[in-house]
Amino acid sequence: VRAAIAAGMEPVGIERGYAGLLEGRLRPLGSRDVSGIIQAGGTVLGTSRSEEFRTPEGRTRAAEILHEGNVDGLVVIGGDGSFRGAEALAREHGIRVAGIPGTIDNDIGGTHLTLGFDTAVNTAVDAIDRLRDTASSLERAFVVEVMGRGCGALAVSSAVAGGAEDFLIPEEGASTEHLCRVVRAAAERGKRSLIIVVAEGNRAGGVEAVAEVVRAELRTSVRVTVLGHIQRGGRPSAFDRILGSRMGVKAVDELADGNSGFLVSFARGGPVETRPLEESWTRTQELDPELLRLREILAL
Ligand code: F6P
Repeated sequence: VRAAIAAGMEPVGIERGYAGLLEGRLRPLGSRDVSGIIQAGGTVLGTSRSEEFRTPEGRTRAAEILHEGNVDGLVVIGGDGSFRGAEALAREHGIRVAGIPGTIDNDIGGTHLTLGFDTAVNTAVDAIDRLRDTASSLERAFVVEVMGRGCGALAVSSAVAGGAEDFLIPEEGASTEHLCRVVRAAAERGKRSLIIVVAEGNRAGGVEAVAEVVRAELRTSVRVTVLGHIQRGGRPSAFDRILGSRMGVKAVDELADGNSGFLVSFARGGPVETRPLEESWTRTQELDPELLRLREILAL
């Protein structure tokens, strides 16, 4: 919103996603309307799923409403389903569209990270840390289910950051062989606690079935914790706040330049590499110019 205002545009918010668009729920947004939301979870505009928008007739109606509201460009924050809809709207009706990948699942192609993933990982890790206290005090095993739909990204990151003994993800199929080996080896090494992170989309029959597998190996007390929707709310991490700010500014910049049909992508990541040691003193760490620019916009 503030990037658009800084660029001389008049931003309009659409309440309740595509369903709200079809109900004409457009409202002008000023700088004060977005005060105090950088530290909040959820969405002030609301969101929903819309069957009608999936139909060509629904999109024709949506385009009419956008034209009536003098909307030249639409920024869609969501997942691949929302982006397919946006692409169809652009193709069929010439509306300029931008996609900002927003989901805790980190399951969107074309970007290294999605908005919300880091916050969800931090929430899951906080929960795992707390479970570890009981696990090591009482010498118990915990099987922790995290969200992620069909994708194991949230499980892998929270397992690594939480020091879990193993994880089970949909991408690796139904086998629990590796898990059994890990559990046996941990017991033999005298580990006092055990935490296994299971992605909700696992193919091993669900979190209770996985707990049974662990129980059969250990013959000790195994508890199941399903983290559920607590992963979808709460204060965004600093990383997500910055990523959201950068992605919003980029979407506005590109639309203003006349571009359309693009995904705003966070391309960094990649493997940990090595560099010559002397680079640590011969090169200087540059401040990110894109971040420096945000100061002109974000506090408007
Ligand atoms: O896509 C985000 C997500 O939280 C998934 O991780 C989860 O499977 C799903 O949404 C839950 O959806 P609902 O809130 O409709 O149960």
